[in-house]
Amino acid sequence: MSFKRIFDLLDVPAPQPKVIDGIFDFVPSADPHKAIGEAYDKSIVIYDDYMQSKKLHLRILKRILLGMGKEDTDECTKITRKFIDLVGSGIVLDIPCGTGVFTFEEYAKARNITFIAADYSLGMLKEANKRVKDLGAQNIILVRADVGALPFKNQVFDGVLTLNGIHSFPDKAKAIKELGRVLKHDRGLFGSLCVKRERWLTDIMMELFYFPGKWFTRPALSRREFLGILEANGLKNIKHRLIGPGLLFESLK
Ligand SMILES: C[S@@+](CC[C@H](N)C(=O)[O-])C[C@H]1O[C@@H](n2cnc3c(N)ncnc32)[C@H](O)[C@@H]1O
Repeated sequence: MSFKRIFDLLDVPAPQPKVIDGIFDFVPSADPHKAIGEAYDKSIVIYDDYMQSKKLHLRILKRILLGMGKEDTDECTKITRKFIDLVGSGIVLDIPCGTGVFTFEEYAKARNITFIAADYSLGMLKEANKRVKDLGAQNIILVRADVGALPFKNQVFDGVLTLNGIHSFPDKAKAIKELGRVLKHDRGLFGSLCVKRERWLTDIMMELFYFPGKWFTRPALSRREFLGILEANGLKNIKHRLIGPGLLFESLK
């Protein structure tokens, strides 16, 4: 796989990325979402263990804060596999990729697909880069970009995956519009997010913990609001289900 492939996907006139440790960085120097990026940069010391509910104290913390545990970890892997099977071959955008904790092992096996794995946090992307190297994956290209201002042309991706991220995005409607814009017709947008009004304790924890820490961004969306945004952006055949406040969804453009 040629890393030059990224340049075929770029909007015209092509934005010029910086290249940092093999990561293509399209975030402008004004760094509009610096606080969010830095919050995630700092979280990398516990991120994978927390997300995977690996250590006892983190498992308890995640259960209290989000009402989630092993079952949601398994769902992330399942939805990733289903998404990969649907795409089959081509080029996929995964945003936000984070450290690739739920996805990169699956990506490395799917050799007919090139994965553009993008995130805003350089710290998360550097961890992702270690994972790419450990896996020896040749089909994952790491990109730093803002989901609300993607550097890509219209309709270039054969699938878009957005796992556990929409609740973090500063402008959720703009983000979904961008994800829809870069996706080809009749292709899948799959993902998951945390929604409000499904678990009262999580609603409180968002206010006390996630919003002030910048890991989530106000306003949180309810299930109905989120599904409305998908529909408003031309996504159809929407299927969704809830695990506590975690909403998993599949849709087609
Ligand atoms: C909870 S993590 C999810 C990462 C990964 N998908 C996972 O499941 O582990 C949320 C991610 O959203 C990213 N993020 C927040 N705002 C963003 C933006 N405007 N553009 C791109 N990524 C963003 C953060 O940097 C963070 O890595």
